[in-house]
Amino acid sequence: MRTEPTPDPAVVDLLRAATKVTVMTGAGMSAESGVPTFRDAQTGLWEEFDAASLATPEAWEDDPEMVWPWYLWRARMVRGVEPNAGHLALAELARHKDVRLVTQNVDDLHERAGSDVLAHLHGSLLAFRCTDCGAPAPEPELPEEPTSRAMPPVCAECGGYVRPGVVWFGESLALEPFEAAERAHEDADIVLVIGTSGVVFPAAALPITSRGLGIPVVEINPDETELSDLVQHAWRTTAAAGLPLLVEAATRPV
Ligand SMILES: NC(=O)c1ccc[n+]([C@@H]2O[C@H](COP(=O)([O-])OP(=O)(O)OC[C@H]3O[C@@H](n4cnc5c(N)ncnc54)[C@H](O)[C@@H]3O)[C@@H](O)[C@H]2O)c1
Ligand SMILES: [Zn+2]
Repeated sequence: MRTEPTPDPAVVDLLRAATKVTVMTGAGMSAESGVPTFRDAQTGLWEEFDAASLATPEAWEDDPEMVWPWYLWRARMVRGVEPNAGHLALAELARHKDVRLVTQNVDDLHERAGSDVLAHLHGSLLAFRCTDCGAPAPEPELPEEPTSRAMPPVCAECGGYVRPGVVWFGESLALEPFEAAERAHEDADIVLVIGTSGVVFPAAALPITSRGLGIPVVEINPDETELSDLVQHAWRTTAAAGLPLLVEAATRPV
């Protein structure tokens, strides 16, 4: 484990020598942009709920009018923030390496930083669709102030409720992005795992697969996680502080 302000020279060397770089990001990647992680205390109107109980098909079935404004508020928050220095560093890395970016995040901050995202494992907050027929729905108006209850709009095709395009706890991941993410974790020279607690499966299984194949896995996270004991290198720093230093050190001309 390393808490130094500079990256481990062994990690710099691995990244410098790598051609295929697989990157897996979680909510911590966007924390310094101002998007709260799930494990952070919930705030505002939803503080008495934990995210795991709002982000479920059961919550939607039981009370869509309560769940819907939570998503409007989160979508609004994402629209109002900017990519951080970590997102930008990953986009820069892709100018030097074959980067395969896999994210659990439902925001669009990697794309706005200029990265191509191989797989959004958990979907997108900003892609709305019909609960019943799956037809894509236009982005609803995002309110300035959150409200405690609001009716979801209805689908133009079938009249079903419009839902956010995220994967809820208990739902299956879309097959295509998951398979692309699996291939990227099986065939890489190095895997960087950034800002994920490693508790949400099957996403957390991907770097474990890489490790089992002997691929070096590097964790970037200010705190210890479920994956920390499995990785070769853990750097206790944040995405926005650590990634620019690592990318600069590994791509600097020698
Ligand atoms: N921005 C988003 O899109 C967003 C936000 C909240 C939750 N989610 C969803 O929540 C699920 C939870 O899993 P998860 O593992 O992604 O998130 P998580 O909330 O379980 O864990 C966040 C991790 O990020 C670390 N972290 C906090 N600040 C950091 C920083 N500045 N730099 C680097 N790491 C930092 C924490 O130590 C923690 O390990 C995911 O499925 C994701 O879809 C997404
Ligand atoms: Zn419909």
